Amino acid sequence: MGTIRTQVGIIGAGPAGLMLAHLLHLQGIESVVIESHTRDHVENRVRAGVLEQGTVDMLRHSGVGARMQREGLQHHGIELRFDGHGHRINFQELVGKGITVYAQQEVLKDLIAARLGYGAPIFFEAEAMCLQDIDAQPQICYLKDDGENVIACDFIAGCDGFHGICRPAVPSGRLRFHEKRYPFAWLGILARVPPASDELIYTYHERGFALMSMRSPEISRLYLQCDPDEDLMNWSDDRIWQELRTRMATRDGFTLNDGPISAKGVTPMRSFVAEPMQFGKLFLLGDAAHIVPPTGAKGLNLAIADVRVLTRALVDFYKHHDRDGLTHYTERCLTRVWRGQRFSWWMTSMLHRFPNEDGFSHRIHIAELDYLTSSRAASMALAENYVGLPFDTPGLF
Ligand code: FAD
Ligand code: PHB
Repeated sequence: MGTIRTQVGIIGAGPAGLMLAHLLHLQGIESVVIESHTRDHVENRVRAGVLEQGTVDMLRHSGVGARMQREGLQHHGIELRFDGHGHRINFQELVGKGITVYAQQEVLKDLIAARLGYGAPIFFEAEAMCLQDIDAQPQICYLKDDGENVIACDFIAGCDGFHGICRPAVPSGRLRFHEKRYPFAWLGILARVPPASDELIYTYHERGFALMSMRSPEISRLYLQCDPDEDLMNWSDDRIWQELRTRMATRDGFTLNDGPISAKGVTPMRSFVAEPMQFGKLFLLGDAAHIVPPTGAKGLNLAIADVRVLTRALVDFYKHHDRDGLTHYTERCLTRVWRGQRFSWWMTSMLHRFPNEDGFSHRIHIAELDYLTSSRAASMALAENYVGLPFDTPGLF
């Protein structure tokens, strides 16, 4: 058994863990990252694709944005499609900002390359098994190469996602959970076919939601609302393309070309917040503390916003002996988290069909979308949230 000593022990090499490790390194604060999966797995797991301006700025300013700037796709709006017609929400004109489409696993590749480049530690295939003494002298026990090892640290950053061990390590009764489950899921595919449009298309249809997104000018990413226990065996490639065409059809003959599907998966939908996001010297970040349904494209961006708050708090602590940021970590994160929750819940409710909806509910969905796309005030509210609420405005860190 070996013991390593560091300032911040980081569990999980997802966006939260790797971004935190990188920003701390730039500030001269040491950390060790442990990740239960292989590097190859982390670098190839298909997940998010939409980066808010604030996330893009953080990657750029911290020196890991060069490839994103070359290969990321700048989008200045999205399309909302319903009743056979498309309506563009022009972010640039409404709020003067946009989003960047650049896959989460590409962000992770860039962060891993940077960290290994300056020789800082990431241990892959190293699984955290338990946390000890988290309110005094924290230790992380982890398994690597079949041996048990320990990281002794000042603070633990729990960046281990929704199914990790950090949140459950908080003594029972010390956290409150707020949760909402949705009676549907997303069937997602990655296909080698040029995207059918230059911008994302969010579609509401009587048969359910559909989304056309992309990863590059050659690769499309598409999603269909399905049942939470949907069996992928029932979805041949032909059936998927047919269903996407039915839901996305327009009165002026939109065409969706098909192509070879390279990945298929079902994503459950859930809203979840754990409160507070800290206990003793353990801080929870990203999906370990909160989950949003993917309709608002907020999950990764909220994880990065938590990183920003914790980095500032740790810098104040180590450089100025100021504990204020650590004490107020939860409240500084949660204002943004709840705004992200509200937006993601609203987008999800507006664009999906719920079980047993009748004709009245259908007309309400249409009326809401009709209002949203014809009122400048309503379109602006969507645009402002979708591109990401600004940092450092009153009440929002
Ligand atoms: P994770 O990415 O889950 O990383 C946690 C890491 O911890 C993992 O690598 C895991 O292997 C590791 N780990 C877990 N347990 C242990 C352990 N015991 N020891 C060591 N390591 C451990 N968000 C957006 O912002 N925009 C989008 O467009 C978007 N689209 C999405 C589409 C889909 C289909 C899905 C599923 C999600 C989407 N999201 C989106 C959400 C986004 O992917 C997540 O919010 C984001 O990955 C959270 O990052 P994280 O670092 O908190 O957690
Ligand atoms: C994606 O491209 O994976 C994506 C885009 C927008 C979303 C969710 C996922 O709302």
